Amino acid sequence: MIYLDHNATTPVDSRVLEAMLPYFTEKFGNAASTAHRFGWVASDAVALARERVAALLHAEPTEVTFTSGATESINLALKGVWEVYQTKGKHIITVATEHKAVLDVCAGLEQRGANITYLPVDHKGLIDLIQLEQAITPETILVCVMMANNETGVVQPIVEIGHLCKRHGVLFMSDITQALGKLPVDVQALGIDIAPLSAHKMYGPKGVGAIYLRRRGPRVKLPALIEGGGHESGLRSGTLNVPGIVGLGMAAEIALQEQNQYYNHTLALRKLLEQELLALQGASLNGNTAHRLPNTANISFAGLKAGGLLKTLADTVAVSSGSACTSALMEPSYVLKAMGVSDALAYNSIRFSLGKETTEAEVLQVVATVKGALIKIA
Ligand SMILES: Cc1ncc(COP(=O)(O)O)c(C=O)c1O
Repeated sequence: MIYLDHNATTPVDSRVLEAMLPYFTEKFGNAASTAHRFGWVASDAVALARERVAALLHAEPTEVTFTSGATESINLALKGVWEVYQTKGKHIITVATEHKAVLDVCAGLEQRGANITYLPVDHKGLIDLIQLEQAITPETILVCVMMANNETGVVQPIVEIGHLCKRHGVLFMSDITQALGKLPVDVQALGIDIAPLSAHKMYGPKGVGAIYLRRRGPRVKLPALIEGGGHESGLRSGTLNVPGIVGLGMAAEIALQEQNQYYNHTLALRKLLEQELLALQGASLNGNTAHRLPNTANISFAGLKAGGLLKTLADTVAVSSGSACTSALMEPSYVLKAMGVSDALAYNSIRFSLGKETTEAEVLQVVATVKGALIKIA
C-alpha cells in the first residue's frame, strides 16, 4: 500500500515521537502544577514548544495558544470575533472553497445574525482581489481566506489580501493548516492577524494544534470558547496535552529546519507524477499551476463511471477523491464544483498528496497502477 494522502494526515516523524515519549512516562507532570519539579519540567517543555511554533510563524510566543487542532482553533476564532466585534459590524467575508470547519461555523453565525459573503473562485481556484475589495463595507469585521486549499493545494494571494485588509482596517484570518511546513509562513510579512494550525498535517500528533493571535497592531482579543481554570491565559481552559504540545513544537522545529528540503523533494516528485498522469487521455489538472502547494496534485480523469477509479485503486494506493459519500450518496466535491468542474469529472478526480518520505519508486508504481486501473475500467 502506497500512501499519497498526506493532506489528510501525516505519519508522526520519529524525532517527534522520541521528543514526546518522556512526557508520557517519567516527565508526566501537569504543566499547571507550580509547587514542584514535575510541574516545572512540563511547563518548561510547553514554553519551548510555544517558542518553536512562534519561530516557525515569525511570531511572539505569547501570540500562540494551544488547542486540540485546527477545527477548534477555527471555532475559537470565528465565534470569538463574532462575539467581540459584532457591535462594530455584522459582515464577514470568506471563500466558497474554505475547509468545512470554516464554512460550517459561518453557517452557524448566519443563524445568529451574521451577514456572510462567500467569494467565488475562478476555474483555477483563485479568488479575485478586486472582488474582495469591492465586498468590503464599513460593516465588515473579518476577512477569512485560507492560505492553501486542502483538496487542490491552490495558494491564495495572501500578501495582497493582508495589505488590503490593513488598508481597510479589517481583521485578516488565514487558515494555514495545509501551508505550514510546506511553504514559508511569516505572519508579519503576510499581514495575518489570526491563524489556525494543526500538528498532524506536518508530521506531528493528532488532536493538538494552535492558534496565532496578533498582539500588536491590531491586538486581537477573543473570549474563551472553553472555560474552566484559566489555562492558556484564560483563552482555552483544560489541563494541557503536554506530550502533544511537545510533539507540535518538535514538528514545528523540524519544519523550520527542513522546509526547503521538503519543498524541493515533494515538488520534484509531483512534477514526475503530473508529467506521467497528465499525458494520459482524458486527464486534466484541477487548480492553479504556479500558485500551488509543492506536494499536491488534483487530477480528473474523464469518461469513467462515477467513483470507478478510486475504487479500483483502493487496495494499493491511499489517495482521496474529489467526492464525498454522504448517506450513501456520492456528492461531488464542493471545492471542485466552485471551480466549475463538472459533477461527472469531480466523481473521477483524485487528490494525490505526497510527503517527505515518498520515493520516486513509489510515484512510478502509482503511475503504473493508475494506468492499469484505467485500462481495467475503460
Ligand atoms: C485547511 C484545513 N483546515 C482545517 C482542518 C482541520 O484540522 P484538524 O484536523 O486539526 O481539526 C484541516 C484538516 O482536515 C484542513 O485541511
